[in-house]
Amino acid sequence: MTLSVARPRKIRGEIIAPGDKSVSHRAVMFNAIADGVARITNFSPGADCTSTVSLLRSLGVEIEREPGPDGQGDSLTVTGRGMNGLEEPADILDAGNSGTTTRLMSGILAGRKMLAVLTGDDSLRSRPMGRVVRPLTEMGAVIRGRHNDSLAPLVFAGGQLRGIEFTMPVASAQLKSTILLAGLRALDKTRVHQPAASRDHTERMLTAMGADIKSYGLDVEIQPTELSAVDVEVPGDISSAAFWMVAGAAHPDAEIMIRGVGVNPTRSGVIDVLKAMGADLTLEHQREVAGEPVADIFVRSSRLRGTDINGDIIPLLIDEVPVLAVAAAMAEGQTNITDAGELRVKETDRIAATIDWLTGAGIECEGHADGLTIQGSGHVGGGKFNSYDDHRIAMSLGVAGLVSDSPITVLNGEVAGISYPGFWKDIGRLGGLVG
Ligand code: S3P
Repeated sequence: MTLSVARPRKIRGEIIAPGDKSVSHRAVMFNAIADGVARITNFSPGADCTSTVSLLRSLGVEIEREPGPDGQGDSLTVTGRGMNGLEEPADILDAGNSGTTTRLMSGILAGRKMLAVLTGDDSLRSRPMGRVVRPLTEMGAVIRGRHNDSLAPLVFAGGQLRGIEFTMPVASAQLKSTILLAGLRALDKTRVHQPAASRDHTERMLTAMGADIKSYGLDVEIQPTELSAVDVEVPGDISSAAFWMVAGAAHPDAEIMIRGVGVNPTRSGVIDVLKAMGADLTLEHQREVAGEPVADIFVRSSRLRGTDINGDIIPLLIDEVPVLAVAAAMAEGQTNITDAGELRVKETDRIAATIDWLTGAGIECEGHADGLTIQGSGHVGGGKFNSYDDHRIAMSLGVAGLVSDSPITVLNGEVAGISYPGFWKDIGRLGGLVG
């Protein structure tokens, strides 16, 4: 599907951020291996979380899914099978495009008395899995994969898990969660050392489910424990809300209210960076939902200036870099993003994909091994650009179209459905979609 977006003269509107993808994956996975029945509301409507649901069903987990009221996510009822109750799947498990499904489920499948094969689409089969296979193997799991056990399909063939002390080579919440999930079924305690903080939804949710898990600064320690089912009301996804934060701040005449956004401090780096760039952005009606901080975010047109983005804030905004590139292009001055080499191994190489469209839109920019430099001029040109089948690149291009001098056409825009199926409808509601 090819979609074109042109800049509306003015943007006024209210958006309800869809349910958070990271929290949705965890809510259904963790309840699947818990004791009891849980209800999950505002579950992410994206295809990635649906991959997790179908994969868990193939492992014998009973999950009922009902559509939620308009503007809200689906409701799920999950009947937990307990820590050791998953069934051997009758066929290959397909995680689609979802790295979170593949890595976290690797922690759940490791060391079980069954054979399971986990694969996904072309993008997923090119993403690094050795980072989870190596420590899980050290814990005693038997796992094989393509390319010297570093690429999916991955084959899980049992083993007995022991606790380990593991120093993570990258600040990745997926990797941390994989090891903690395996640690739940190990013979003794597991300790993970993180190089920098990454999203902590796993730690929060496992604590709420009764796991013996403790954080000591950047270290997390877990003891083998059973989990009790817990109901989860999923907060709105800040990674989806970020598109509207940038659109509102970068457009010359905009006011956007984004309702119900999860603002967990391990996810909210995008707010800090936009504020440092001069964005007029306020958090209202701050509250707590299911152990996660939530707020409404109001954003209006702002004079943006370039900034440096690097160091420990990178994992706290890793998925928002592609849309922050739009803010950087619309700012005055240079934005320099470094320490973000992980972007090269996401759904696509997001540094290369961003440089590709920025260059085509007439913006002076340069890619580096671990980031990019963007010379902001307050203008983005139009054109036809490749989404590289990456949901966040496609949606960043949609936001670029809301602020560009002439229309932007996005190839394969429907890939937004991986995390935000209502994205183009919301662009239309804000007056941006031309066809
Ligand atoms: C996620 C963690 C991040 C992020 C991904 C979701 C998660 O990946 O990019 O979209 O739910 O844990 P890494 O932790 O590998 O950086």
